[in-house]
Amino acid sequence: MATIAAPAPPETQIKYDVKDLSLAAEGRKRIEWAGASMPVLALIREEFRRTQPLKGIRIAACLHVTTETANLMLALKEGGATIALCASNPLSTQDETAAALVAEYGISTFAIKGIDSEGYYRHILATVDHQPQFTMDDGCDLVTLLHTKRQDALAEVIAGTEETTTGVIRLRAMAKDGVLRYPVVAVNDALTKHMFDNRYGTGQSTLDGVIRCTNALIAGCTFVVAGYGWCGRGLAQRAHGMGAQVIVTEIDPTKALEAVMDGYRVMPMEEAAKVGDIFVTLTGNKGVLRKEHFEAMKDGAIVANSGHFNVEIDIPALEALAEAHRTARPFVEEYRLRNGRTVCLLAEGRLINLAAAEGHPASVMDMSFANQALAAEYLLGEYKNLEQKVYPVPEHLDQRVAKLKLEAMGVAVDVLTPEQVEYLAGWSEGT
Ligand code: ADE
Repeated sequence: MATIAAPAPPETQIKYDVKDLSLAAEGRKRIEWAGASMPVLALIREEFRRTQPLKGIRIAACLHVTTETANLMLALKEGGATIALCASNPLSTQDETAAALVAEYGISTFAIKGIDSEGYYRHILATVDHQPQFTMDDGCDLVTLLHTKRQDALAEVIAGTEETTTGVIRLRAMAKDGVLRYPVVAVNDALTKHMFDNRYGTGQSTLDGVIRCTNALIAGCTFVVAGYGWCGRGLAQRAHGMGAQVIVTEIDPTKALEAVMDGYRVMPMEEAAKVGDIFVTLTGNKGVLRKEHFEAMKDGAIVANSGHFNVEIDIPALEALAEAHRTARPFVEEYRLRNGRTVCLLAEGRLINLAAAEGHPASVMDMSFANQALAAEYLLGEYKNLEQKVYPVPEHLDQRVAKLKLEAMGVAVDVLTPEQVEYLAGWSEGT
């Protein structure tokens, strides 16, 4: 395993590829607005400023370039890191945020909303050219590139973190195949990440994305949620809260049972396709909505994806079924099928919440990114004792994030009495 190389020379030149630097002042205001709802990260940032846990460390970060991510970057920079940031999805960048990161905060950033696939990978490569010692990834594209086309850059990488479910699944597959070359902490698996970000963040921001680009009324519609993981649970709950009749589709019997007992109708997609008005996929798998489903859908059905990759909806199959196609509104592609009905695809099947809205609210990203910052600090202290595997966020850090968030929200909790501590530690006391 690599060890930490000599500290990087001071950052002399910022490198970047962003849409328009004149957007920077607007971006700064937005970053500050988000920062005001990220008190836990602000505390960590202040601590990092004093303790410099990332001093001289070169970080490559592949994350959605949002105002919340900008606040994470500022905390890492305050901790002593030099950063190269790129987008983790071609449609999720906020251009004014990217501009501000460069022009207002001096952070190398490579991200443009709507970039093509070639440009997307060119931006990831630009962060690899930063010769990272640490990677911070969301969806594993950066780690995959390092382990395939840029193995030359692997020797200096000592550790990394991964933000999302899909990325963690990939990393576990890499570790199982014995190809993962450095330890990675699965930030997604922290309780203070997935129970809040995946559930409440995705629940709210997915509906926000659907509503912003369609102006559809959720009340009274039949809303099909494909996948009942934490993200699906959150979306079903919020759609129900707005008055939708929610149908859940699942492949896992336990999760399907949970959805039934949470009060939703559960059925195969083949059945749901005939009755749904709005469909959202959040499964992490491919081909969840495909030819036979599009053919069965009602006229005007809306389909969107909120899973990490744009493979959940089989877009080539939809295109093949269509005899005509037009952009009805920004982020809404209307396909007229040969059966005479239309199906509306939102945001090219990419993450609807980040493409058509602003991603999760800052208040929930506060916890996710506090975990990222603390995991980075932990890994830089511990990497020599770790193997080339996927590790959880240590429980004490997860708990620290929960405590700090509660404090910031002004919520107090009870503490165990000495008798209760003793009772929990014992086994002999009965009724
Ligand atoms: N993932 C989902 N929402 C996000 C946000 N606001 N910023 C960064 N990553 C996200």
